[in-house]
Amino acid sequence: MSKLTKQTALEEAAQKRIKESHVLNGDADRLAKYYRGWADSYELDVEHEQYCGPIIVAELTGALQTAYVEGERAVITILDAGCGTGLVGMELERLGFRSIDGFDLSEAMVEKARETGVYRHIRADVDLNSSLTGYPDASYDITVCCGVFTLGHVRPDGLRELTRVTRPRGLVVVSVRKSYAEAASFEDEVLRLQEAGVLEPLQCLNDGRYLEEEGAHYWVLRVAEKPKGGRL
Ligand SMILES: C[S@@+](CC[C@H](N)C(=O)[O-])C[C@H]1O[C@@H](n2cnc3c(N)ncnc32)[C@H](O)[C@@H]1O
Repeated sequence: MSKLTKQTALEEAAQKRIKESHVLNGDADRLAKYYRGWADSYELDVEHEQYCGPIIVAELTGALQTAYVEGERAVITILDAGCGTGLVGMELERLGFRSIDGFDLSEAMVEKARETGVYRHIRADVDLNSSLTGYPDASYDITVCCGVFTLGHVRPDGLRELTRVTRPRGLVVVSVRKSYAEAASFEDEVLRLQEAGVLEPLQCLNDGRYLEEEGAHYWVLRVAEKPKGGRL
């Protein structure tokens, strides 16, 4: 097999695995099983597909933290929701953040994230399609979530839980794959939470690079000082 043919075969296999992950209907058992089989080759696959979501989420977080969240980076607490193998955590660490926790549905992905050494605490078997039990209200200064608001994974109302675990005036930074944003009406959830007085959108970076085949929108949301009517 020539080098070029081998490269094309690897890229096609990566695209296939990414596409297969999109048809799991948010079913926690199927997602956990799928990622158990994918954990070993995940990073190589997404590299082939020029996945830059983690860099963008981390750099947006850095810029918006400097603009809106006081404090030394090393002590600003960040929750990486759906941390996978730890790509976002590693980018955040590169930018000087040191108090990073993470969770994911998949134990196999979390195992890889643990090996990076950048997370303080990290948990597996945590489902963002349910309540995040074990995470009290207002626990973090910033919550980030990359590659999870995507086809077949998490419903837009997962945003409500991300907001709940973030402190008043803290930030929630998420990537939202474009085709998912349209299919799942993600922006409607943002507007609903804004109208309920729970958060305000600070920035939306529209149609930024994400994967070679498709872009994403990157939202930065600020949790309200005093969520109207209590926290949702
Ligand atoms: C495409 S990967 C993104 C991982 C990492 N954030 C990144 O950017 O590389 C999606 C991750 O979401 C996790 N996931 C899928 N559904 C989930 C859910 N309902 N709750 C928590 N994590 C979930 C998967 O296990 C997987 O690790």
